[in-house]
Amino acid sequence: MISKKIESAINDQINAEFWSAYLYLSMSTYCAHKSLPGAANWFHIQFKEEQDHAEKFMSFILSRGGQVLLQPVAKVETSWESLLSAFKDTLAHEKVVTAKINHIYDLAVEEKDYATQSLLNWFIDEQVEEEETAQQMIDTLGMIGDGYGLYQFDKELAARVYTPIVTA
Ligand SMILES: [Fe+2]
Ligand SMILES: [Fe+2]
Repeated sequence: MISKKIESAINDQINAEFWSAYLYLSMSTYCAHKSLPGAANWFHIQFKEEQDHAEKFMSFILSRGGQVLLQPVAKVETSWESLLSAFKDTLAHEKVVTAKINHIYDLAVEEKDYATQSLLNWFIDEQVEEEETAQQMIDTLGMIGDGYGLYQFDKELAARVYTPIVTA
């Protein structure tokens, strides 16, 4: 069984994952509008992965005898100054998500809830990757600037392929 405190924290996290999904969907449509189809593809995959994260948390609550409570998803930005600024927002957003996951981990440690800690270990590793990737995008975009470099980089982002995250 899962405690009410952990159940509520994970329900909030499910909402944060859908909020992330919504943000990346918004970035994807922004990129498509700005004639960056590769970046639009990249963010669209990010959108799907965030939904997978939400589902992974949902499955966990259900398997622990808890109740999933879906909440309204908060408003997100709809336009950015540039692709670089979208990736800067991505990094800032992922840091907020990391802090939320760390907070649930603290609760799980306090409650000696080892199952939740085990689930969260996967997410902690995932967040390291998410932050690293966003930082790499920022670094690359800082090097290439606009114009032909951006055009080529967009082609690289077009190659990203979606691999569903298995939710047990
Ligand atoms: Fe996520
Ligand atoms: Fe993420």
